[in-house]
Amino acid sequence: MREILETTALAKVRKAVLPVAGLGTRVLPGSKTVPKELLNVVDRPIVSYIVEEARAAGIEHFVFITGRGKGAIEDYFDHHVELEAQLEAKGKTDLLDAVRGELPRAGEMSFVRQMQPLGLGHAVWCARDIIGDEPFAVLLPDVIVDAPNPCLKQVVEAYERTGANIIAVEEVPDSETHKYGVIAPKNQDGRLYEMSGMVEKPARGTAPSNLAIAGRYVLRPEIFAALGRHETGAGGEIQLTDAMARLMAEQPFYAWRYEGDTYDCGDKIGLLRANVALALKRPDLGPAARTAVEALLRA
Ligand code: UTP
Repeated sequence: MREILETTALAKVRKAVLPVAGLGTRVLPGSKTVPKELLNVVDRPIVSYIVEEARAAGIEHFVFITGRGKGAIEDYFDHHVELEAQLEAKGKTDLLDAVRGELPRAGEMSFVRQMQPLGLGHAVWCARDIIGDEPFAVLLPDVIVDAPNPCLKQVVEAYERTGANIIAVEEVPDSETHKYGVIAPKNQDGRLYEMSGMVEKPARGTAPSNLAIAGRYVLRPEIFAALGRHETGAGGEIQLTDAMARLMAEQPFYAWRYEGDTYDCGDKIGLLRANVALALKRPDLGPAARTAVEALLRA
């Protein structure tokens, strides 16, 4: 399999795009007034897990693609002066550390309006001027991946190995492939697959594999030209998968089958699973969470 495309130093993945402009219809009515990315998993919002994962992969700048009603996400990553003053005055240092611990350094985050939710591809395209001419990551901020080696870090490592566009994939049951973007693998080397194609939401029985695109990507900047064509695909939306499929005519794409547990928190049951699983894993809450869950199951 082809390794490192360029012999010159490979550009570092420094920036990440987090598209948060979707309507979150699968978790309505709660997401009517609270952005779904701010729904809590245990005691912090979904998006906070995603930023933590991106930092662990070396990301230095976060580009949020936002829309109407999503302003609270920007506020979450800013100081809350009264709250912090009050916690300080009352000596609640643990809570103060928790609140301040997630704050970015000034200038580390950008917020761009998508203006109309025309699809994930359109959302990513809105980041073009801030990303410029360098490779970048995309993280879907409603998918939490719990992994010893954070998922995006695995993807960045695959990029460092190949120098190519990388898509994180996970195996899904054959009966579920119609719900996802699905890749067509060509060659396999452990968890790394060279790709020959991809398709968004294939009709039942037509999927080229059971490897579903899972919400973490490292893309080369040439993707913006493909996205700029604004062609609509599945569901009448401008799809990132379609633009990647087009760019594949010019550049290699690889898929990385990551190690980790995936929770689709944009879905009611996925959000519930994430809350239960991550509470059970917490040293401070795990025993009480287990007792509570077992009692519910016995009832
Ligand atoms: P989803 O389809 O999972 O999110 O898009 P959604 O549209 O918010 O949710 P449902 O299906 O109505 O429940 C994946 C990610 O892409 C973002 C979403 O915010 C989500 O994080 N997205 C989607 C945008 O930013 N803009 C869009 O136009 C579409």
